Amino acid sequence: MAGAELKETYGSMAVARGVAELRAVVGGWKRAGERVGVVPTMGALHAGHMALVEAARQDCDRVIATIFVNPKQFNRPDDLSSYPRDEASDAAKLNAAGVDLLFTPPVEEVYPEGFQTKVSVPVLSDCLCGLTRPGHMDGVATVVAKLFLMTAAERAYFGEKDYQQLLVVRRMARDLDIPVQVVPVPTVRDTDGLALSSRNALLSAEQRAQAPVIHRTLAAMARRLAAGETVAEILAWGHTELTAGGIENLDYLQLRADNSLEELVKLDRPARLFVAGWMGKVRLIDNVAVPVGA
Ligand code: PAF
Repeated sequence: MAGAELKETYGSMAVARGVAELRAVVGGWKRAGERVGVVPTMGALHAGHMALVEAARQDCDRVIATIFVNPKQFNRPDDLSSYPRDEASDAAKLNAAGVDLLFTPPVEEVYPEGFQTKVSVPVLSDCLCGLTRPGHMDGVATVVAKLFLMTAAERAYFGEKDYQQLLVVRRMARDLDIPVQVVPVPTVRDTDGLALSSRNALLSAEQRAQAPVIHRTLAAMARRLAAGETVAEILAWGHTELTAGGIENLDYLQLRADNSLEELVKLDRPARLFVAGWMGKVRLIDNVAVPVGA
């Protein structure tokens, strides 16, 4: 029973707030030869997160979910303070989904007094959200490196919605020889195409009704690029569509190689379209694959 070694539980799920208690439980699982998977999150869980949990459940004997709103990846204090938090509702969802252990440390457990180290993955981080949110990718790489080392999981599950994050985290684990396999999970979308995100809860009803323009436009751009229209034409068209559809400011709309994130002016290798834009105070991101020669 996962909770046997821990005082705090939620249903049949153990809850750890400290690294020592987390390690005690995981150590027992590993000695029993069990495969451990981790789903790192910042809470405010939706069906996209639950798809990560489901993928982990399929592959692993034990599943850890982490909830930690990481201050180091927020470059604006208002964004950090307005980030949605609801531990009780998140714990209920994770318990119902069969998670064995929830690790939800306080900030001082992750960044104790005197903490100085920064993990940085340049090149992959120096574009897209890494440019428009300075320090964000370093904050992600730093906390995820810590979560990998704390949980000692063999597999870690990340959504393709945050595609740049997925590549940064995978590179970081390889470069630091952390023995974890980073497993990508496809983006989960609402029926109207909007990629699920904790930030969607911050949209007004009117903004929510307009937001599907993002995926609709990306999907049309991908089809037209694959059919041979030029990158410059399609990016200009996409820009106009998104602006007309209610995206007030675009941080970026770009075509990039799907493994190196090199910016492309020609569709000559497998690629992705990436967008980040604002509806009022809410920043939304999305990306879609553009198959070459489709
Ligand atoms: O994708 C997220 O929710 C966060 O960036 C992550 C991976 C949990 C790191 O804080």
